[in-house]
Order: sequence, then C-alpha cells, then structure tokens
Amino acid sequence: MNQILAPIFLLILLPAAYAIGVNYGTLGDNLPPPSQVAHFLKTQTNIDRVKIFDVNTTIIKAFANTNILVSVTVPNGDIPSLTDPRNARRWIDTNIKPYYPATKIHYICVGTEVLHWGPQDLIDNLVPAMKVLHAGLVKEGFDEIKISSPHSLGILMSSDPPSGASFRPGWDVGSLGPMLQFLKETKSGFMVNPYTYFGWSPANNNFCLFKPNDGLFDKATGITYTNQFDQLMDAVHVSMKKLGFPDVEIVVAETGWPSGGDPANVHANPTNAAQYIGGLMKKVSSGDGTPLMPGRKFETYIFALFNENLKGPSLDEKNFGLFQPNFTQVYNVGIMHASQGPSPSPSGSIADTPTSSADAPSSSADTPSSSSGPFDDAPFFNKTTPFTGSPGQAPPGSSTTTAPNANANVRESSIGTTSMNVFFAARSAVVVILAIYLLV
Ligand SMILES: *[C@@H]1O[C@H](CO)[C@@H](O)[C@H](O)[C@H]1NC(C)=O
Ligand SMILES: *[C@@H]1O[C@H](CO)[C@@H](O)[C@H](O)[C@H]1NC(C)=O
Ligand SMILES: *[C@@H]1O[C@H](CO)[C@@H](O)[C@H](O)[C@H]1NC(C)=O
Repeated sequence: MNQILAPIFLLILLPAAYAIGVNYGTLGDNLPPPSQVAHFLKTQTNIDRVKIFDVNTTIIKAFANTNILVSVTVPNGDIPSLTDPRNARRWIDTNIKPYYPATKIHYICVGTEVLHWGPQDLIDNLVPAMKVLHAGLVKEGFDEIKISSPHSLGILMSSDPPSGASFRPGWDVGSLGPMLQFLKETKSGFMVNPYTYFGWSPANNNFCLFKPNDGLFDKATGITYTNQFDQLMDAVHVSMKKLGFPDVEIVVAETGWPSGGDPANVHANPTNAAQYIGGLMKKVSSGDGTPLMPGRKFETYIFALFNENLKGPSLDEKNFGLFQPNFTQVYNVGIMHASQGPSPSPSGSIADTPTSSADAPSSSADTPSSSSGPFDDAPFFNKTTPFTGSPGQAPPGSSTTTAPNANANVRESSIGTTSMNVFFAARSAVVVILAIYLLV
C-alpha cells in the first residue's frame, strides 16, 4: 500500500491553488443531493465551474448564488427542434430564464459529441441550432452565456504527428468550419474531449501520464512532445488552423482517468489517476500552453466529479470520479481548499475496486440502456484510424441507429465504450510507439 501511495504523497506537496472545472454526472443511485454538492464544492474545493449533461433544474437551482459557473447541455435529440426560433425561445424561457443570473450559467453545450455519434440529421442541424439559440439569448439580453458543442477527438483524421493533423474530410468544411466561424464571431470556445487514458499502452505509459519519457518527435516542426495531452491539443490546433481558425479558444470539455477498472485494464488505478489529474492541473494552471500554443490557457473540465455506480458496464466507466458519493476523495491532488489541509493520510479513501451490493443498476428509467460499443453506432467514425479520444458520455439514444430520443432520461448513457476503446487504443498505441521509435 505504501508503494502505491508514495507518488500521491509527492503530489500532495505541490502547491494546491488550482481553480478547475469538473463534469458533474449523475448516473449513480447513491449520489448526494445537488444542494449538498453545491455547498461542498463552494466551501471545500478549488472547483470553480461545473458542467452537467442536461438542463436539470434541481442542479441549476442548487448552484444559485454560489459564484460557481454552471454549463448545461442540450440533449442531442433536442437539436433539430431548436433550429426553429420559436422553439429556441421556449427552450430558453423554460431552462435558462428562471434561473439566470442567480445561477451563473456559463456555456450552453449544444449536444454531446454530435459528429461522432450522428445521425446525419443531427449533424446537419447542429450549427444552425447553435446560431438560433445564440440569437435567442441575445434577444433576452443574455449575451454573456456562450454557446458551444463538445467533440470527441474522433473529429481528427490523425493526431500523429501533430503537425500533420487535420479534421476528417466532410466534417471539416461541412460542420467544423461553420462552427468555428460562429465561435469566433461570438468569442466562444471550441470544446474537445481528449483522453490520454484511451491512448495508453505499457510502452507509452509515461507519455500518457505526464511522467518523464523520451517523447514523440515531430519532424516537420522539430518539436519533441513530452506528453500525449500536448500532442492531442496541438493536433486540434493544427486542424483548426488548416480551416483558418487558429485563434479560437480551445476548451477541454472532458478529460480524466479512472481510479479502478476491469482487471485487464491495469492502468486504471488510483496512482495513475492521481498522476494524470495532478499533471493535468499543473499543466493547465501553469499558463505554459503547448508547444504550438505557448502561453495559452485552456478552460478545463475534469471527468468526473463522482464515481457513478450506474455507469458501465465496465468498471472503468464507474470509476472516473474525483470523489466517492460520500464526498471522500478517491485520491488527493490538491483539489481541496488548502485550509482543509492535505494531510498525508488521504482519509483512507484510496478506492481499489468498488465492492458493493448497491451497485446493481436499478431498473428505473435512469439506467443506462445501452450496452453496445460506440463504434458500432458511429457510422461516421473510421475505425481504422488511430484512436485519439473517448466518448465518455454518449448522447441519449445512441445505442440504436434510430434518432436520439429527446425525452430519454439517459442523460449520459455511457455505453460499453471501454472495452472497445481499449481495443482501438491498443492499435493507436502501436502507431504511437512505432512513431516514437522510427522518428527518434
Ligand atoms: C435532477 O437531478 C437530481 C439529482 O441527480 C435527480 O434526483 C433528479 O431526478 C433529476 N431531475 C430530472 C428531471 O432529471
Ligand atoms: C466513503 O465511501 C467509500 C467508498 O464507498 C468508503 O470506502 C469510505 O469508508 C466512506 N467514508 C466514510 C467516511 O463514510
Ligand atoms: C477509413 O480509413 C481507411 C484507411 O485510411 C480507408 O481505407 C477507408 O476508406 C476509410 N473508411 C471510411 C469510411 O472513411
């Protein structure tokens, strides 16, 4: 146990003054009420913004007068209807107006990884819906609320080397170009979900975890990348630049590392999770940016706030949380207020694997309904190319080929992504390793 804890103790010694965002998912049957969550975050943590996967009014209200920024999400299935200005106005009247500005609503995310999941109907309506919703906000005088839409890194054709990256043909000028134009005009951020967890292999362990390593050499730029986060972010940047939008801010809408997982996924453990999240917080709060974006800051949302026992089916999916449902830290990376101390005993909270009787998903409508892999549902995603990101949060209805169900309670039906992801990640890892050995 001490061996496991040692690296965590090192992290505890780092200065702990990070302000960071977190994704507040709710697929658990043992999670505390939103009012307690809001109070806890405000009084005890450095978390200054949250993102939710729906427009749950109980949660939105709970964050009123806390000064914590709240980003909400339009369910994928609602996108087509929002291209009608009357519907958009009604949506704003229902979901935003009663709660704003008491609750500091920051972003409205229009859908989740829409390009990745499709169907085409949603993809075609995405940018128009963003524009109509924005116009509706302006009309209400809510100009400060930004509109964006998070993407999986499946939008990239490749990320290795970063200098050669580009968006997938079709999506580039069809959707991403117009979206970037809109984001530029409205001074909003381009949201991506990079997960180095899914690019992990034994050989690139250190590269994925912000630990010292030989790096990935990019011949065209002469840059040696020392971590995969930089590699992925620069790949996004290069792709944006190719479309003419190098200066639109990039928001890290989801990234994380599970503290436990299926036995085969040895890299899912508390030590690695602490290492990754600690490295990430240091990275994004340093203001260093990346090799191609020096000095740039990235608004960042860790996935996720809590371990969520109704996610799955893999154990990895249930264990992305920074906290247990009882607010104990799963690992300590300085996210608590300094005054709470980091004590060198992480409150016995290192979770190995969740044992539990309460973990069995209930048969309620909240239960994630999907058990299929994301790639089976994503006809637009080319399975043969390197895996660079993860659909940690699949949209409602993505388990079938039918149109997403706007009414589904499955807000973040996380799908049985992980085993598939690991499979593709293994492939991508081979590519990365080859690149390291060939280029260095
Ligand atoms: C909103 O979130 C709370 C807490 O997770 C949950 O109890 C409630 O059922 C949700 N409401 C809706 C309408 O989904
Ligand atoms: C909180 O929950 C974790 C995981 O279920 C458990 O190990 C721990 O003992 C709990 N802590 C308290 C103070 O209840
Ligand atoms: C996927 O990529 C492979 C290799 O680059 C290519 O041969 C194939 O045509 C692509 N498939 C689709 C559907 O884009």
